[in-house]
Amino acid sequence: MKIVQAKNYQDMSSIACQIILEKIKSAPSLTLGLATGSTPKGLYDCLAADYKENRTSYKNIHTANLDEYIGLPKEDKNSYHTFMNENLFKHIDIPLSQTYIPNGLAADLTEECRRYDRQIKMLGGIDLQVLGIGQNGHIGFNEPGTPFSSRTHVVDLDKSTIEANSRFFSSIEEVPNQAITMGIASILDSREILLLASGKSKAEAVYHLLNGKPDEKFPASALQLHPQVTIVADAEALQKV
Ligand code: PGA
Repeated sequence: MKIVQAKNYQDMSSIACQIILEKIKSAPSLTLGLATGSTPKGLYDCLAADYKENRTSYKNIHTANLDEYIGLPKEDKNSYHTFMNENLFKHIDIPLSQTYIPNGLAADLTEECRRYDRQIKMLGGIDLQVLGIGQNGHIGFNEPGTPFSSRTHVVDLDKSTIEANSRFFSSIEEVPNQAITMGIASILDSREILLLASGKSKAEAVYHLLNGKPDEKFPASALQLHPQVTIVADAEALQKV
């Protein structure tokens, strides 16, 4: 795993932004795996600012997001569809028909998971997957105990994840308790992985990621099995390393 030390959140975001822009310039029809949450927001702001200034084009880029809540309509202000539209897609020239996110309102959720796996396969797989990390080591919504062999699946969210994400909702009762997420095996299939971490609340998780052995109790440790992982983390997230 390659570790890039950033000074702070802003620095982490702009380093990740430069890495992605370089990739897009050398492969303009890349498939990007995208994440939601507070961590990648600065990265998306930077990509949006670059588009405004330099018009780096996404016309031939495809994207596949890691996850979506079950039970929220796409238009809900807390859905990951809305997050991606508001924070990235509406600011760049990517056709929305080339952006893929699991449908958390599908009538048959098991079939939706299989369909999403087929969709990623049809895209030729993910070239570069962006990841955040949960305090409990989750990647996507793969909570501790998720088999490393898992593909896209339905998950019951951890109490700690529901609590962490309740900051976006008016009350904790409104946070969905299930989601669809790409599995660990789906994530490991990506050709390259870019994990971002910022702030002292992630320091323990980053320490485990770098020092533990691969163990399903700590989902992010699966990344040790991948040959092309870059971690961009700021000083606070690296304070225990
Ligand atoms: P955060 O979430 O970026 O909002 O901290 C990361 C994660 O839970 O994967």
